[in-house]
Amino acid sequence: MEKSLDQIASLCKRRGFIFPSSEIYGGLNGFWDYGPMGSELKRNIRDAWWHFMVQWREDVVGLDATIIMNPRIWEASGHVGGFADPMVDCKDCKKRHRADQLCEEQGMKLVQDGKNWKLPEGCKCTACGSANLTEPRAFNLMFKTFVGPVEDDSAVAYLRPETAQAIFAQFLNIVPTSRKAVPFGVAQSGKSFRNEINPRNYTFRSREFEQMELEFFIRPDEAVELICGHVATLADKPDLDGDPQEDWGWEVWHRYWVEQRLKWYRLAGLPQGDLHLYWQTKEELAHYARACVDIEYAFPFGVQELEGIAARSDFDLTQHQKHSGKSMEVMDDRLRLAVAEKSEEEKVAFKARVVADWTTRGKDAAAAEAFVDGLFAGRYIPHVIEPSAGTDRLALALLCNAYDEEKLVDAKGKEDVRTVLRFSPAIAPVKVAVLPLVKNKPELKAKAREVYKKLQRRWKCFWDETGAIGRRYRRQDEIGTPFCVTVDFGTLGEEDPAQKDTVTLRYRDSMEQVRIPLAELEAKIAAAIEL
Ligand code: GAP
Repeated sequence: MEKSLDQIASLCKRRGFIFPSSEIYGGLNGFWDYGPMGSELKRNIRDAWWHFMVQWREDVVGLDATIIMNPRIWEASGHVGGFADPMVDCKDCKKRHRADQLCEEQGMKLVQDGKNWKLPEGCKCTACGSANLTEPRAFNLMFKTFVGPVEDDSAVAYLRPETAQAIFAQFLNIVPTSRKAVPFGVAQSGKSFRNEINPRNYTFRSREFEQMELEFFIRPDEAVELICGHVATLADKPDLDGDPQEDWGWEVWHRYWVEQRLKWYRLAGLPQGDLHLYWQTKEELAHYARACVDIEYAFPFGVQELEGIAARSDFDLTQHQKHSGKSMEVMDDRLRLAVAEKSEEEKVAFKARVVADWTTRGKDAAAAEAFVDGLFAGRYIPHVIEPSAGTDRLALALLCNAYDEEKLVDAKGKEDVRTVLRFSPAIAPVKVAVLPLVKNKPELKAKAREVYKKLQRRWKCFWDETGAIGRRYRRQDEIGTPFCVTVDFGTLGEEDPAQKDTVTLRYRDSMEQVRIPLAELEAKIAAAIEL
């Protein structure tokens, strides 16, 4: 079925998923709150991500850093100098636009001229049609604040625009305390803030949002070569489903994380067919990046980015080394032992090759020599692969994917439409609704409460005793509850002793109802909910 963002947003409001922030005061553009259902959905997304990326792995640890950090971090990362979008104003109607989006909306492309931007010929304001536009100018997206009581330049700080930088800034603390050696990763999820020029598409581009980021540190290819004698590339057809291998170079690691992330999206419930990979072209790549692929989802408003997976070389740690004066190099025992077994001739030949390779790529020969000397001493600055996902974008993608309107015809031939959110059970905000068939029979209600209390210890459950049972099922369909358990007269064994301690389990997607013993209920639900 065709799904519109308006239909989805309307259900989200009605059923407590997403509300405009500060709505009673007219809201605030680019800010959204998650209600009772939305907060459960987001928590399940975060948990599923954490399980897959951290808990189920031996080579990833976590971090929970502050949102406001020393502003020098953002100088080192390049955000103070360069985290900007091009902005234009219409001089007639005063509407402000993000210049690249304004061009795209008119089938044009913003012209990049060195560090400056230019609007293409014929570009107009999409609000009033005027061509009387300012030249594009850079607008830094970081939110500024002041730390402490004095509001002067020395007190300026920023709300983080990404969670990633804290991982680099804490690298020296994490390495010894985690007792992990490269290759290993550090994961963090949490709030990020960007003063977007034009927040749009519901929660898709917000000013306050959450990210789930992994910085996975790997050996430079040259270190892999010294250890393994060769560097595996994609041409070697590595088994990306199996365990990572010591001879993998950056290209294989990057592809491995793309595959891992696709696998995770499928587990979270997004169909493979709605996920697209966009490989950035050489011209689009940041100067330090070796590759970057966006995982995109087919939203109702177009195919758009859910996550970026970048091979960022040693750029970030090198920047923090330069700006902080603290060495970001790691000692690699495997490398040290491998180098100790090399002859002098092998080392001379290796160095000559690396220097030649670096200089043909336009890099400095002296830097190449210093790098190889470091490798010979067992030291290097790790490179990084960064899968960086947006929690809110995924929540929106899951809502769009789950939304369905199903035409039904009842026994009397009456047509009806059932609205249902077909979430995967692992992601669904509520796992089980417990429904006493009637509320005015104390023994029946007491039995249902007993079932509810027990299930509630394991999962988010919903108690609903009001309205006809069919209406109650429909309410659960609208929030995507995969299972309803109805406790009825049969459960009490009053009509048929054989039915004593059995309940009706109703499946959301098929609407099938089966009678099962209470003793089997938990195991049946658990099997379906596991990621
Ligand atoms: N550390 C790398 C980084 O932050 P990014 O592509 O700017 O990369 C990563 O952001 C992800 O964060 C995006 O793929 C998207 O899912 C999410 N994201 C970025 N800006 C967002 C915004 N304004 N609103 C909602 N999500 C956003």
